[in-house]
Amino acid sequence: MDFEEILTHRVSTRKYNDRMPDEQTLQKIIDAALLSPIVRWHKMHLSIVTNQDAMNLAEEATDEFFKGQRHRPHLYGAPVWIILSGKKYEEDDPDSTRLKNENLFWNVGSIIENMELQATALGLASCGINTAVVSMLGRPDVKKAVGIPDGYEALASVIIGYSDEPCPEREVKPDLIPVSYIK
Ligand SMILES: Cc1cc2nc3c(=O)[nH]c(=O)nc-3n(C[C@H](O)[C@H](O)[C@H](O)COP(=O)(O)O)c2cc1C
Repeated sequence: MDFEEILTHRVSTRKYNDRMPDEQTLQKIIDAALLSPIVRWHKMHLSIVTNQDAMNLAEEATDEFFKGQRHRPHLYGAPVWIILSGKKYEEDDPDSTRLKNENLFWNVGSIIENMELQATALGLASCGINTAVVSMLGRPDVKKAVGIPDGYEALASVIIGYSDEPCPEREVKPDLIPVSYIK
């Protein structure tokens, strides 16, 4: 796949088959995260979750958090769930805290996007997942089960796996984000 094909074939996929990506494939996705454009001073951690019990616990916590407004499977039966965690800044002076957190969120986007694009390039499907991330608030049992280090919070996550769903080439929708030129 050339780069433009990767961009146009990446799509959020919500149906997966049972095939487990091998270790080499997963390592390439982790490497993509490590190659992303990130500022270096944030403490972050990647949890690569393939344990079904841990995923089931997260499904249950997500059900509880959304109180019937959203229904499982929140992780769509994907065999791999990658969670990015880190430390948000809450103390010091408000200006620098805001600056640090904005940088952190920018890092998070870069890391997740690099992993999704690498997954697409390797013939895998993916989907960013926020529901199961926010549902970890107040659930130390889930955080522990998915390997989030003490003092860290889940920041973002992505599911990865193989899918039999079609992924046709997507078209650019110019209305999605208005563009202006200053010449
Ligand atoms: C920050 C973020 C959080 C998301 N959380 C979820 C989620 O919890 N569940 C879900 O099914 N999709 C989730 N998505 C996927 C979006 O719904 C999807 O990216 C959007 O509909 C655009 O579709 P596309 O990725 O196929 O272009 C999330 C995407 C982003 C960027």
